[in-house]
Amino acid sequence: MSNACIVGLQWGDEGKGKIIDVLTEDFDTIVRYQGGANAGHTVIVDGKKFVMHLIPSGILHDNKRCIIGNGVVIDPEQLFNEIDELESAGVKVRDNLLISDRAHLVFPYHKLIDKVSEETKGKSKIGTTGRGIGPCYVDKMARNGIRVGELYYLDYFKEALKRNVDEKNEILVKLYNSKPLVYQDIESQYLDFAEKIRPYVCDTAELVNDLANSGKRILFEGAQGSLLDVDFGTYPFTTSSNATACGAPAGVGVPPRYINTVFGIMKSYTTRVGSGPFPTEMDDVLGKEIQEKGGEYGATTGRPRRCGWFDAVAIKYAAMINGVDAAIITKLDVLDGQRSIKVCTGYKHKGKIYSKFPACISLLEESEPIYEEFAGWQEPTENVSSKDGLPKAAIDYISGISRLTGLKINLISVGPSRKQIIKY
Ligand code: GDP
Ligand code: IMO
Ligand code: MG
Repeated sequence: MSNACIVGLQWGDEGKGKIIDVLTEDFDTIVRYQGGANAGHTVIVDGKKFVMHLIPSGILHDNKRCIIGNGVVIDPEQLFNEIDELESAGVKVRDNLLISDRAHLVFPYHKLIDKVSEETKGKSKIGTTGRGIGPCYVDKMARNGIRVGELYYLDYFKEALKRNVDEKNEILVKLYNSKPLVYQDIESQYLDFAEKIRPYVCDTAELVNDLANSGKRILFEGAQGSLLDVDFGTYPFTTSSNATACGAPAGVGVPPRYINTVFGIMKSYTTRVGSGPFPTEMDDVLGKEIQEKGGEYGATTGRPRRCGWFDAVAIKYAAMINGVDAAIITKLDVLDGQRSIKVCTGYKHKGKIYSKFPACISLLEESEPIYEEFAGWQEPTENVSSKDGLPKAAIDYISGISRLTGLKINLISVGPSRKQIIKY
């Protein structure tokens, strides 16, 4: 059995979509295991751009089976927009996509509560994507959620939905001074969705186990990044699911031992969307330059991404939690032309130096990064296709990252397209 999991090692947007698209060739089935339409995975094929939010990035290969696992929270409206968009671009979705009957559904009240709760948080807002992710996972854990398979048990569905709408309307009206939602509208909208989604729905846990047991290779697709993981990220400035590889077995329904290899994806620098601590953030002209050059604008919300230097302390920690076997560096080309490049090797807090990633964000917020500096390179790397073609300074930088994180690097990405990849 040779299955793999792909995870982001930073705060998301590491280029997972592109790498999944590149690696899909070696796998039979690609499964998303957590998150929802908060994700934005960009893949560029023959100059055409696709952004996947819920559907696994493997969908662009027309002979691969793609699965949305039970750990994902599904907004049907978003799902059908995405299916329509992909199909009108000639991508075969209907034949290749399957959806877990155990995945939780995102309802309009989740999105509304996400929005109004952020508004009332003021300065301490998380800066969520507004896709209803947190409130939907709250309902899942509180055991109030409604799952895809329950759409087909009408009495159960209607009763659960009514209970939820009544409860959420109390919260919306009394706590947030918002307008109540109309139960009937949601019921009829979701019963329409139920029929549209029916051909895709099955017990995907059983399917993935059968596939894996019959020798098919499974690729587990992580969304967000390790530092956004609800347990191991910069809590509370995280998302609401386990974005690390730890989330994969539970989010798909396979034994943990079925994940044989973990690929960790990291940018050659760091970005973050939304609020929360970011020790290596470059709040200056250089940060802006990297933002522009790297096209660092959210694939889901269009918000500018905050940019900063590579943080080896955070990566070493993320690599430990995920058990990364092989790492992939993306966006090396974005650093072309820099005179010097920094890598964070520790945090200085009240005179003391920390070389471990802390559990509490206060230390991160109050600390100053300690940097090791590397010489930059002036040659463009976007057309380099082998390790030998890389500038010496770029190789030294990659070796530095490997030394400081303890990671074996096995691919380098030097541009957004499929071909811009170097075996390392
Ligand atoms: P994901 O959420 O991890 O899949 O990443 P996103 O798609 O949100 O953001 C990554 C962005 O960088 C996308 O616009 C990609 O097309 C782009 N990208 C991926 N790899 C590279 C690379 O090596 N170089 C450059 N310049 N862009 C890249
Ligand atoms: P991909 O898969 C980057 C961030 C949001 C916010 C926090 C919580 O494209 O890497 P949420 O809507 O999940 O409750 O927001 O998490 N966030 C992401 N940042 N990439 C993502 O996904 C993200 N998904 C959520 O900006 O800070
Ligand atoms: Mg993204």
